[in-house]
Amino acid sequence: MGKIIVMVGAPGAGKGTQARLLAEHFGYPQISTGEILREMAQADTLLGREIRALQAAGRLVSDDTLAQVILSRTSQPDCANGYILDGFPRTRKQAEMLEDLALKQGKKVVLVRVVVSDEALMKRLTGRRNCPACGEIYNIYFRPPRQEGVCDRDGTPLAQRSDDNADAVGTRLAAYEESTAPLIEFYRASGRLVEIDGELPVEKVFQKVITIIDESAGGNVPRS
Ligand code: AP5
Repeated sequence: MGKIIVMVGAPGAGKGTQARLLAEHFGYPQISTGEILREMAQADTLLGREIRALQAAGRLVSDDTLAQVILSRTSQPDCANGYILDGFPRTRKQAEMLEDLALKQGKKVVLVRVVVSDEALMKRLTGRRNCPACGEIYNIYFRPPRQEGVCDRDGTPLAQRSDDNADAVGTRLAAYEESTAPLIEFYRASGRLVEIDGELPVEKVFQKVITIIDESAGGNVPRS
């Protein structure tokens, strides 16, 4: 049965970093809702402007928009054997949608929550730099590139996300507490939520995630 691997965690917990490694390891596509929405936000349309404003402020985009994004992306042929979700679900409604989708697609949901303290999250987010060409993620404190400000892989100058400033990070962490933390309880109640220490080195976290995925068995989370 194909798998839907779901990385859950606060902003900056390392979902994207791990999802990229998992995509390489399993050959599944990485579906980052944040990335897809950032692309949509570039369009000069009502929806594009709305998403741009919400993301810049660190607030969540509507469940209806996310439903369209996920349905359209996961129906692409590259998702047939499985895929990795990075940043979805984030609300109870999105979690319920995912359960319906998994049933319809005949896939099993495997969840991994990466846990990181609030103090570390702020430093990780304000110190993050991304390669606009290949998407590689760095951190000026924890994972610096070999040459300052330049991607190790392709030499492209690194960029900083518009929502990685202290104000927006504060709003993002609050949105996580309000909307996403209750979701964790929803999954925990089903007995299938596996949590790992996200403050270990990237490679150690990755090994733990792989072990959890390899050992995962059983059905989808029942609706309560
Ligand atoms: P999104 O792009 O998903 O951002 P996020 O959830 O805030 O998460 P991040 O991408 O910031 O963090 P991450 O956990 O992926 O960490 P990373 O691996 O980069 O969403 C952005 C916005 O889009 C939202 O605010 C919302 O507006 C909208 N949106 C998206 N999805 C939505 C949804 N489903 N519903 C509604 N709205 C939605 O790592 C962070 C840093 O830490 C990096 O510098 C990295 O190098 C470093 N790092 C990673 N792992 C380690 C480690 N083990 N040790 C040390 N450093 C590490």
